[in-house]
Amino acid sequence: MTLGTLMKTGGFTTYGSMDKLHQFSSTFTELQRRIDRHVKAFARKLDFDLANRRLEMTDCWVNIMPRQTAHGLHLHPTSTLSGTYYVKTPKGCAAIKFEDPRLDRFMAAPPRKAGASRENQAFVHYPAEAGNVILFESWLRHEVPANPVEAERVSISFNYNWF
Ligand SMILES: [Fe+2]
Repeated sequence: MTLGTLMKTGGFTTYGSMDKLHQFSSTFTELQRRIDRHVKAFARKLDFDLANRRLEMTDCWVNIMPRQTAHGLHLHPTSTLSGTYYVKTPKGCAAIKFEDPRLDRFMAAPPRKAGASRENQAFVHYPAEAGNVILFESWLRHEVPANPVEAERVSISFNYNWF
């Protein structure tokens, strides 16, 4: 499975080697069960018409990002919903950054003020907080900028699909 322009510098990921952890470990199966609830609620919020199909976890992998590790802009083109569960998030570690998907159509649009509302910003950052899960539609481009702190930032990422 391809993740678009997946670029990692340093760090460690089980993506591409052990990326179906929910099928191999009861701990990850339990995590899947807990995330399923949130995915279901998110799909309801998005008014998805799943035509009696279910959104199912297709991939689940671990990311360990020490200082200066970055994960460049990418999307998850063959999935429906994606997300990350944060395991270890040392103070000051990198947030996840989402890009406004309309960015390539702004053309003559002026830049926004420094204090612009979130809705008007081209990029939105969500802090990584251990114990939290972030869900997003898989077509939404995102990245993790270089981790500025020494301690490792640890997360578990996943994809869901409905076909
Ligand atoms: Fe991603």
